[in-house]
Amino acid sequence: MRMDIFTLFPELFPAVLGTSIVGRARKKGMLQICCHQLRDFSPDRRNQKVDDTVFGGGKGMLLAAEPFARGIDALTEHLGKRPHILYMSPRGKVLSQPMARRLAEFENLVILCGHYEGVDQRLLEEYDAEEVSIGDYVLTGGELPAMILADAVSRMLPGVLADEECFTEESHYSGLLEYPQYTRPEVWRGREAPPVLLSGHHANIKKWQREQALAVTAKNRPDLLLKAKLSEEEKERWLAPEKELH
Ligand code: ADE
Repeated sequence: MRMDIFTLFPELFPAVLGTSIVGRARKKGMLQICCHQLRDFSPDRRNQKVDDTVFGGGKGMLLAAEPFARGIDALTEHLGKRPHILYMSPRGKVLSQPMARRLAEFENLVILCGHYEGVDQRLLEEYDAEEVSIGDYVLTGGELPAMILADAVSRMLPGVLADEECFTEESHYSGLLEYPQYTRPEVWRGREAPPVLLSGHHANIKKWQREQALAVTAKNRPDLLLKAKLSEEEKERWLAPEKELH
C-alpha cells in the first residue's frame, strides 16, 4: 500500500510513522508513506497562501480547495490511477477496527489534513472524499487523526504484524475487549497472577480468557456486547444483568 498525506505540518509525521511496527513495515517495503507540504501546491507562488476567510461571515480561516486539488491531481498523474481519498474531520464516520480493515484493502490512500475551520466543501464533493473522525471530540487539526488512521490501517496489512503481535486475539477484533494478561513474576507486590494461566490446561485457559473478555466488555463497553457474537448461554448471563440484581 501507498499512503500520501497532505498537510501544513509534514514535519510532525516522521517520528510517529517512522518508528516501531509501522517504521519496520516501511523499511521492509510493505508500505510507503509520503507526506506532502500543502503550501507547495498553492497557486499563490509568492506567499504560498492556502487559506481564506469563510463565505457568509463565519469566524476564522478555511483551507481553500485548490491547493489540495493540485496536490491530488499531481499525485493521480504520477500514480497513473485515482487513489481513494480520506479527509480527517470530526464530522466524519468514526474510525473503527472494521473500517481500518476495509481501508487496508486499497492500494493507494490519500489522507487530507484540515486545519483552522476546515476545508472548502467543494473539494470533498469534487474528489468524493470519505470523511473520517477519530472520535467525538475536536482537535486543532487533522494531523494526529491522520497518524492514528495510518497506524491503524498499516497494522492490518498482510505481513506487517509478526506472528506474536497478531491481532486476532486483541480488543475489537472479535467485537469484544481483550482479556487481561500477565507476565513474570508470578507474585508482584503481593498480587498473584491468576493460577489458571500457569496450569498449562489449554481449554481452561481459553475458557477463563473468554469469561474475562466478556466481563471487561460488560463493564467498560456494554454497547459492544449487544453486537458481539455470543452463545445462548453467554447471552443469558451477560445481556441480562438486571436478573443478577434481584
Ligand atoms: N480534526 C479535528 N478533530 C478531529 C477528529 N476528532 N477526528 C478527525 N479529524 C479531526
